[in-house]
Amino acid sequence: MKSILVTGGCGFIGSHTCLELLERNFKIVVIDSLVNSSPLALERVKKLTNKVKNLSFYKGDLRDINFLREVFFRLKDENNSISGVVHFAGLKAVGESCYEPLRYWDNNVNGTINLIRVMEENNCKTIVFSSSATIYKVTNNLPIKESAEIQSINPYGSTKLVIEQLLNDLAINSPQEWRISSLRYFNPIGAHPSGLIGENPLGKPTNIFPLIMQVGIGRIKKLQIFGNDWETFDGTGVRDYIHVSDIAEAHFLALEFLLEHKPQIINFNLGTAKGTSVLELINMFQEVTKIKIPYEFTDRRKGDSCTVIADNSKAFLDLNWKPKRSLSEMCCDGWRWQSNNPSGYL
Ligand code: NAD
Ligand code: UD1
Repeated sequence: MKSILVTGGCGFIGSHTCLELLERNFKIVVIDSLVNSSPLALERVKKLTNKVKNLSFYKGDLRDINFLREVFFRLKDENNSISGVVHFAGLKAVGESCYEPLRYWDNNVNGTINLIRVMEENNCKTIVFSSSATIYKVTNNLPIKESAEIQSINPYGSTKLVIEQLLNDLAINSPQEWRISSLRYFNPIGAHPSGLIGENPLGKPTNIFPLIMQVGIGRIKKLQIFGNDWETFDGTGVRDYIHVSDIAEAHFLALEFLLEHKPQIINFNLGTAKGTSVLELINMFQEVTKIKIPYEFTDRRKGDSCTVIADNSKAFLDLNWKPKRSLSEMCCDGWRWQSNNPSGYL
């Protein structure tokens, strides 16, 4: 049985991916600093699988290289060497990154450099990295292909972009050694259908779906819609929302692909290739939950794009990955999680 290190495994996408990898018969070792998550996420993952003994957790920060060395050493000592890494750990709030760029660069970039260094020391050269659609330059050329032009517009995006460049440099320098895949997520939402695990933002969320859910539970009175004058069919911004369980499955497929093929770097968009406007998302949420979401229109948000939709054909061709879950399942599953856990993991 292969052991996989999952950094940031207590987080939203990490916890869903841990479950997926456990069900696919991997041994999972999670490292998480808990800066934006709770260890209870893993306790919930354990409730959803009978492979509990294959999951272990080390609390610590990727910026602490001695901690990382210790984890790799201990695992080797137990004859449990890491075959590959799924690297979620990072800070992800775009607005916050603009106020605290140094913290974002330190956490995301220095954390990743440490991780890569210790992987190299242990001859572990397979990594799946959580990247983002935010690295693409704003474009009207839709849907967006992996080969589209790249440009960051905020410090969070810069950290994703520079990490992708670092991974690219590793692949160019040692093409016979590294197996690398950056997965560029579009807009992951929803939750596991059990309602036991889901998104647990510790501060005030800024993304649309957690905000809709917070209006749903009454924590926020009204949703602000950033503009009704976009060049879209109803004037509100269009995005490619994708169920977190579809994202989790793609991680398994990317990891399996890397482990079974020759060393290479291969990057994929993860989206549904379907666009949904803010109003359509609100309407779908209201329809499946029967809860009214009051909203008002405000000015456009700085740095926003009009329409962002993935071309997901590469992931289908190479990984045989196709997102299976509908927008109504995303709303229904997300709401089950939020309404069962109004204060997150407590
Ligand atoms: P999350 O905040 O729920 O999970 C990230 C996890 O990483 C948290 O558990 C946090 O405690 C941990 N962490 C952060 N810095 C760490 C460090 N230095 N050392 C150890 N642990 C650390 O976020 P998520 O939504 O699950 O996102 C996972 C990854 O996917 C992130 O890298 C994020 O940037 C990326 N991503 C997310 C989205 C999205 O919309 N959720 C979109 C594109 C990309
Ligand atoms: C945002 C980030 C992006 C990041 C992604 C996932 C910006 C400009 N982009 O993308 O870098 O990778 O989150 O973390 O911040 N909306 C409202 N009201 C709100 C919030 C959002 O109307 O209170 C609208 C937005 O204008 C947009 C849509 O909802 O049309 C989705 O917004 P959001 O969830 O923030 O995702 P992105 O804009 O795609």
